[in-house]
Amino acid sequence: MIDKIKEHIAEIEKFTSDSKEAIENLRIKYLGKKGLLNDFFAEFKNVPNDQKKEFGQTINQLKTVATEKINALKEALDNKTVETGVYGDLTRPSEPVELGSRHPISIVKNQIIDIFSRIGFNVSEGPEIEDDWHNFTALNLPEYHPARDMQDTFFIQTNPDILLRTHTSSVQVRYMENNKPPIRTISPGRVYRNEAISARSHCFFHQVEGLYIDKNVSFADLKQTLQFFTTELFGKSEIRLRPSYFPFTEPSAEVDVYWGLETEADYRITKGTGWLEIMGCGMVDPNVLENCGIDSKEYSGFAFGMGIDRITMLLHQITDIRLLSENDVRFLEQFKSAL
Ligand code: DAH
Repeated sequence: MIDKIKEHIAEIEKFTSDSKEAIENLRIKYLGKKGLLNDFFAEFKNVPNDQKKEFGQTINQLKTVATEKINALKEALDNKTVETGVYGDLTRPSEPVELGSRHPISIVKNQIIDIFSRIGFNVSEGPEIEDDWHNFTALNLPEYHPARDMQDTFFIQTNPDILLRTHTSSVQVRYMENNKPPIRTISPGRVYRNEAISARSHCFFHQVEGLYIDKNVSFADLKQTLQFFTTELFGKSEIRLRPSYFPFTEPSAEVDVYWGLETEADYRITKGTGWLEIMGCGMVDPNVLENCGIDSKEYSGFAFGMGIDRITMLLHQITDIRLLSENDVRFLEQFKSAL
């Protein structure tokens, strides 16, 4: 038994390590509550009387050697920390912290919100899972209306009344149902359409809807508002409104901004015309106002809707819409510096 303890003493004397963990393990092994030292002390009463003295001295030696060894190694470790800076030197530069970045869609969405909030628009949101009334019927698109086919719809399971909204115009309806004019609101959000995924289209994307309802709102107010917007966002103030058709607005128009033809990219994105279509708009159809409980004789208003993904691609020269949902950090980290 005494020899065995001496072996342990030799082993401790040889032991060296600069690992905090290994030193602690050594302490637990010998000096811990369930450590060997306590085992040997417990053994003491079974040792024959003539060996008790030597046995006692040896386990005391074991205790001293272990305690000194552990203290020495700990001290060396602390000194090393200060001298060599290998461990936790406070003057070392800190570990780099990986900062995330805002998604380009969020950046552009926030820019759009910021611009409209400066002229009194608030922000409203609605559900992505919608019912037929808010997505279609209230917007002057009754059942069997051919214009429903303009937007290929995802229906939820077999219930044709529940669907993934195809546009944020559904939020117009909800907002008018729940608020009285004057109304000035923009509604950003994600929308879904059953379309083949390619570089130019996706089955989900983002829109911002705008709605302005008050007494005596005119088409001139609409144009002025949109011109303010394009000037602020693109730095381009020349716009044109081309007659178009949307069931929920009358008259309706497509908005083009004059982008210019300075670079090769300008030719590409404007197909050589210099003009770029950026949104749809119009005067809210009186039927829509009535469907939402607003007196169309007293109030009029305008609405507009645009795709955030498309505008993001324009502003950041992104040529494939799929990049916006693939979450490739090599793409996303390029937006690190943007707010
Ligand atoms: N909802 C239309 C779409 O998704 C966009 C739109 C056009 C919204 C005209 C409007 C509007 O509010 O007046 O294509």
